[in-house]
Order: sequence, then structure tokens, then C-alpha cells
Amino acid sequence: MRDSVRHSRAVMLSALLVFAACRPQPSPAPAPSNRPTAIVEARDATRVAMAAANAAFPSGWRFQVGAPATQAEHGMVVSNSRLASEAGIEILKAGGNAVDAAVATGFALAVTHPTAGNIGGGGFMNIRMADGRSMTLDYRETAPLAAMRDMYVGANGKLTNKSTVGHLASGVPGSVAGMSEALKKYGTMTLAQVMAPAIRLAEQGFMVDSQFSRGIEGGRRAITPFQGKALFFPGDSAVKPGTRLVQDDLARTLKLIAAQGPKAFYEGSIADSLVAEEQRGGGIITKEDLRRYKPEWRTPIKATYRGYTLLAMPPSSSGGITMTETLNILENFAPLPPAGSVKYAHLLAESYRRAFMDRNTKLGDPAFVKNPLNALTSKSYAKVLAAQIDLNHASKTPAFDTKAEGMETTHYSVVDAMGDAVATTTTLNGGYGSGVWVRGGGFFMNNEMDDFAAQPGTPNMFGLVQGEANSIRPGKRMLSAMDPTIVLDPQGKLLMVTGAAGGPTIITATTEVILDVIEHHMMLADAMRAPRLHHQSLPDTLRYEANGMSAATVDSLRAMGHAVAPNRGGLANVNSILRVPGGWHGVNEPRSAGGAVGY
Ligand code: DON
Repeated sequence: MRDSVRHSRAVMLSALLVFAACRPQPSPAPAPSNRPTAIVEARDATRVAMAAANAAFPSGWRFQVGAPATQAEHGMVVSNSRLASEAGIEILKAGGNAVDAAVATGFALAVTHPTAGNIGGGGFMNIRMADGRSMTLDYRETAPLAAMRDMYVGANGKLTNKSTVGHLASGVPGSVAGMSEALKKYGTMTLAQVMAPAIRLAEQGFMVDSQFSRGIEGGRRAITPFQGKALFFPGDSAVKPGTRLVQDDLARTLKLIAAQGPKAFYEGSIADSLVAEEQRGGGIITKEDLRRYKPEWRTPIKATYRGYTLLAMPPSSSGGITMTETLNILENFAPLPPAGSVKYAHLLAESYRRAFMDRNTKLGDPAFVKNPLNALTSKSYAKVLAAQIDLNHASKTPAFDTKAEGMETTHYSVVDAMGDAVATTTTLNGGYGSGVWVRGGGFFMNNEMDDFAAQPGTPNMFGLVQGEANSIRPGKRMLSAMDPTIVLDPQGKLLMVTGAAGGPTIITATTEVILDVIEHHMMLADAMRAPRLHHQSLPDTLRYEANGMSAATVDSLRAMGHAVAPNRGGLANVNSILRVPGGWHGVNEPRSAGGAVGY
């Protein structure tokens, strides 16, 4: 009975999504709408009621079903900083496309969200133009030329903390090269135009709010040993809410990039400041490392799930392969048990476990490692793995302890009025990266070297236990979990733009939000609020968000043999957009701060 109700809802929803897909593309902004408003509103209302009925959260869960999304007709930007989302919208309204807006948002995040927004880190961009062209850009950091396989192993054979803290922890930054390259190839505006909002925010300052201030206080341990202390901890306290934060050095740096292009960063005076900073603190990044840095265009991983197509990130990120492998396994059990059920949690855990086992041992930078991409993403391989799953009992992987540390990355999603879409994830790795702040440059450096298997077999800061495929080599990109993803509906039309921060939980949270929409037929706002689960094979523990599963569900999973543990904080940080009749829904992560801004 329940299944048939779910099925008929699914059919109705699909019909409405087809309606959405068939609606005329909105013309570039700000065009008056000629949609038959009453009909659209009636259909919206039906769909909202229908989809809201598909979400049910356990009692005691921090969120309620039925929360609103930001709705807009033309374009949408969703990021972890409202000011940065507004920067993107400013560019869309000025006639820019989604790539222009994404680059504007990326540079603005470097000013307003310095825990993860950056020019001293790297990232991945997934672009799909409305005409169907689809590509990804890898601007992941690389290991410096002087890096060595065992550079973080101490004389006693134990891993040191140098891959996470201080000057040795940084890979060669890719963000400036990556954002400039994306703009050059697929944008319509100049760097100076799209960087104008970021430069304004750095030069004129912005009002610090309590969230920003708390974030800086949370980064005290990372920031205060280095030169960023003077700016972010005046008089030794974190910048206070209500203060206008002006960043003169960063403004100068951004203006140089806007005027001279990425050369200013990789060969000019910014490179000089960066290398001088490295030399002062025993770092190894040289002018040669910077001069050689190149972002790489790559073909997206194309997954299919029950008629939907997912365009996702290929190596040097593991995100696309691991998500595809998971979905391929799950497809063998479709239609899946209801969200929140014991059976669903078990299937997710067992699928993640298998996909992460491959991820942690077989993947690495394609310039150095042959990734078995076709094998791992094939439906026939998934069938074999699915057949190994016992529906009543958990399987086992050897246990390791995990270390938890403050960590930050940031994902943003952008669509424009033409239907171009950009999903971008960027990071310094840990919150405020290595803590090192480039004097004169005004920005933090990443601690991305920790994403390598610094000692294969020993867990990294995310508890990931990885093998030789991801060991350190000069010039190599460290394996990432970042997974900016674009979902197309069964008619091939753009449906969803999403992605997350949160180390390995990026993959699981992104997968779950997508499944909640396309499999469980939830509204985006509910899908984003639904309790999340995580399993990464090692440690062999199914993590859930505290109060996100009932005690009875936890007991049942334990009885099946799962080690189950609550996560005190939330799992991952997702920012998503969904196409809906009449436009877009945008939802920023309800577990943290940010802004979904549309027009
Ligand atoms: O590339 C990766 O997988 C990590 N450097 C991502 C770090 C991250 O998401 C930290 N999070 N909140």
C-alpha cells in the first residue's frame, strides 16, 4: 500500500518535473514573466504538499519538515556567505553568466569566508552550459617539487603534525589559476569585472557578524601563531561582531590579480611575498613551483541512477567515482527503503563501505596513478558488490581510531537565467588551512598536504586510511573527496546543482541529498534538513547526526552488527539548487551559516 502511494506520488512528481523541464527557458534577466501564474502556482502548491509529505524526521531532530527554500525565477547563488552569494547575483544581474558569477562568488568567499574561501588553496569546478557542454576543472594543489614521500614521518617512525600546521603543510595553490582559467574559457566578463565585488568587500570592509566572529575564535589555535593574528585578533580578541573588517593587503593582492591576471600571483609580486613567507618558516614552495602550476580540464564522471544523470568530479578527486559506485550498488535495491528506515541506513552503510574501500586504496592523481575508472563505475561491478550485501547483517572492515579536528571547506552552487550551471568546491583543507598568513599578501595558505597518505596505512585528519596510490610525490595532486555535482533529469534537463564541504562526508552527504530528491521525492529544503549518515569503510563505524536516528533504529542497526556512533556536530555542509516549476529553489546548509540569493 505504502509503496503504491509512494509510486503514484513519484509519478505525479515526475510529471511536474517534466512540466518544469518543458517550460520555456527564462530569458536573460530581468525579463518580465509571461508564465500563466495561477496554473504554475497551483502546480507548485500541489508539488509542495506532495513532496513535503515525503519527508518525516524522527522526533527530537533539530529541524522540522516543510521549511521554505529561497525561490527565484532567473538565477540563484548558494554559498556559505550571504555577501559572497550577493556578489554572484550582482554579476548575474549585470549580464554575466553562471561562470562569471561563480568566479565572482569564489573571490568574494576569499574575503568574507576566510576559513575556507581562499586564494591560497585549491578546488574543483563542475560546469554545464545550457547548450549541453559539460566539463570539469581541477585546480587542486600540487605537492612542491621538493616534497618527499616520507617528509612528515619523524625519526621515531611516527607521523608528525607538519602536514597540518605551519609552512610545510601547504601544496602549491591552484585557486587563482583555476578561477581565471574557467573565466577565460566559459565566462563572458573580465577578471576586473567579476572581481570588483570582492575587491570592494576587502577595500571598504564588511560588517563582522557573530557567526564570523565565532569562526575566527574557533580558529585561534590555527591563526594566532602566524601573521594573521594582527588582523583577526586585534588586542588578542577575535574581531568583534559589529566591527567593519577592512583587509588592505588582500585588497591590494586582488587588485593586482584583477589588473595583471594570474601571472601576478604565480610570477609577480604576490609570488615573491608567498615564497618569502615560505622561506621564513621553513616551507619548500618555490617560484619554480608557482610558475609550473596548471589547472587541468577533465571530462566529468557520468553516473546514471534510475534514469537521472549525474555529472561528477573525476580524479584527482575521488568524489565522482565513489558516489557513482555507491549509487550503482544501491540501484540494485531500488526502489530503496524509506528514508530514515533501518533497511535504508543498512544499505547506505554497506554501499558506502564498499565504495570507500576502493576509494582509499585504488585512486590517486591520474598523472601518477592509473585509476581503474571504468571498472569501478561499471554497473556489472556494482552488481557483484551488491550481491555480497547481506540484508540482515553488517559486514566488517578492520577498525582504526579516527582523529577529529576543526575543518573547513566551502561549496557553492550557481545557475543563471539561461540554465548554465556551476558547482564549485574549494578549500584550504583545515579551517584557516595551515594557519600561515602570507605577509603583505593578506591571505591564508592551505594545509592540503595532509590529504596525501602521508604514511600509507595511517589515518589522516579525517580518519581516512589510504594506500600507495595516494602517497606523496613531487608535483602530484593529493586525492580529494570534493564532489561538486550537477544532476540532469530523465529528459536530460538540468535539475540540481549541489556539493558539500566536510572531507569524506562530502561524498556521503551529497549522495544522500541527491537521493532524498530523486529517490525519496523530498522538497530540496527537506532533503537538506534530513538527518545524514556516514560510513567510510575505516573506521568501521556508521556515523549519524545526534538525534537524527531514533534509539530503536540505532538498536536495530547494532543488532545487525554495525558499530554505530553519533556525531555531535552536523555531518557535512551542503549548498544546493533545484529546478522547480517557475524557476529555482536555493537552500544553503541549515546546519551552518550562508545565503541562498536569487532574483
Ligand atoms: O579535498 C578534500 O577532500 C579535503 N581537503 C576537504 C576538506 C574539507 O572538506 C574540510 N571540511 N569541512
